[in-house]
Amino acid sequence: MQWYGKCPGCGEWETMVETMKEQEKVHGSSFMVHSRNAAIPQKLSDVKHIENNRLKSNFVEFDRVVGGGIVPGSVTLLAGDPGIGKSTLLLHILSRIGGLYVSGEESAEQVKLRAKRMGVDGENITILTENCIEHIIESLEALKLRSIESLVVIDSIQTMVSEELSGMAGSVGQIRYCAEKLVSVAKFQGIPILIIGHVTKEGEIAGPKILEHMVDTVLYLEGERYQDARILRTLKNRFGAVEEVGIFEMRENGLLEIANPSEIFLKDRVKNVPGSAVTVIMEGSRPLLIEIQALVVSSQLAIPRRVGNGVDYNRLQLLTAVLSKRLGVPLGTFDIFVNVSGGLKIAEPAADLAICMAILSSFKNKALDPKTAAFGEVGLLGEIRGVGYEERRIKEAKRLGFTTVIISSSGKSLSVIGKLIG
Ligand code: TYD
Ligand code: MG
Repeated sequence: MQWYGKCPGCGEWETMVETMKEQEKVHGSSFMVHSRNAAIPQKLSDVKHIENNRLKSNFVEFDRVVGGGIVPGSVTLLAGDPGIGKSTLLLHILSRIGGLYVSGEESAEQVKLRAKRMGVDGENITILTENCIEHIIESLEALKLRSIESLVVIDSIQTMVSEELSGMAGSVGQIRYCAEKLVSVAKFQGIPILIIGHVTKEGEIAGPKILEHMVDTVLYLEGERYQDARILRTLKNRFGAVEEVGIFEMRENGLLEIANPSEIFLKDRVKNVPGSAVTVIMEGSRPLLIEIQALVVSSQLAIPRRVGNGVDYNRLQLLTAVLSKRLGVPLGTFDIFVNVSGGLKIAEPAADLAICMAILSSFKNKALDPKTAAFGEVGLLGEIRGVGYEERRIKEAKRLGFTTVIISSSGKSLSVIGKLIG
């Protein structure tokens, strides 16, 4: 073996990754031998239906996100920033289904401490503190984790190493190789495996990105570290829809499922203060009411500031320009700050209308009616456009006590809100 700094093929530096030759792979690992038996073709109609075998954690938000439960033999990647609650979430799941917790990051005592904090006695959890993938696979075989009632959690893939490679834990070669081994074990032994992966600053290089195509399901746990709301999202799911979202709250004693998510995003809302507007966004197939806050203050800078927290910067620029041009609001000498409550990030244009309303409300120093919500995309001509799932959004707003909902059909242009806040 030789060390390469520069790729002799393309001439780029640090693009070389250590991996294994096919030959070595067959002889170098015990479980790959199982796969040598040729597969037998069978009728699709004879293939057993997986729905009946799904493992349910009865952590409703989680089960829904994975498509109704965990499929035996499947490999799921749970990705997220360090400290966001990945270990906590999977300990909850493990405590309900039972199985093996492989910790390469924390000692058994540390895991015990977390379990205790969460009120988990750990009767049905086996813990293995190990980061050598060959030893882990031996243990999996020894423990005869063949029963589908068992789950295996690997915490985390960045700490796993193979003796067969010389790269450090967390390197692309090690991550890919260890994951490949785990995927094989899951498939051949029918063990469902959940792998934790940290999103690092270099996420693209040594993070979960390189594993996404290898696993069956990719989940992301998101949220602001210093706020309580946590959102579990599917990025890929071979066994279910990808648009489902689960919402949790990080508490002293673990993660709490939030059945009524709008309530947590609106709970700290201060009513009758200028600069606040409520909108209804869709998270998966669920409508969610959130508050948009804006602060418009006269600027000391030649180029005034536009700062969006949870809203796209370019979208904010665009909406500000539309407000200036179409409603004649002179925002050119004002700094504008926009914030989304609860640390959510808005991806859909349905929030445009409420963002405009919040900005205008702060500019005019006039508070909006606290029982009014609004959603709709705002176009360059100042027109309000319809968005999907209008019925569902309106229904949710009504359910939470809102009496007026401004949507595209309330008026065709922004002048509607001009009149409202005028
Ligand atoms: P953790 O699950 O260890 O995060 P990850 O595995 O994604 O790195 O959780 C990290 C944070 O969550 C930690 O800062 C403490 C906090 N926490 C709580 O607030 N309540 C709890 O019950 C637990 C277990 C953790
Ligand atoms: Mg962790």
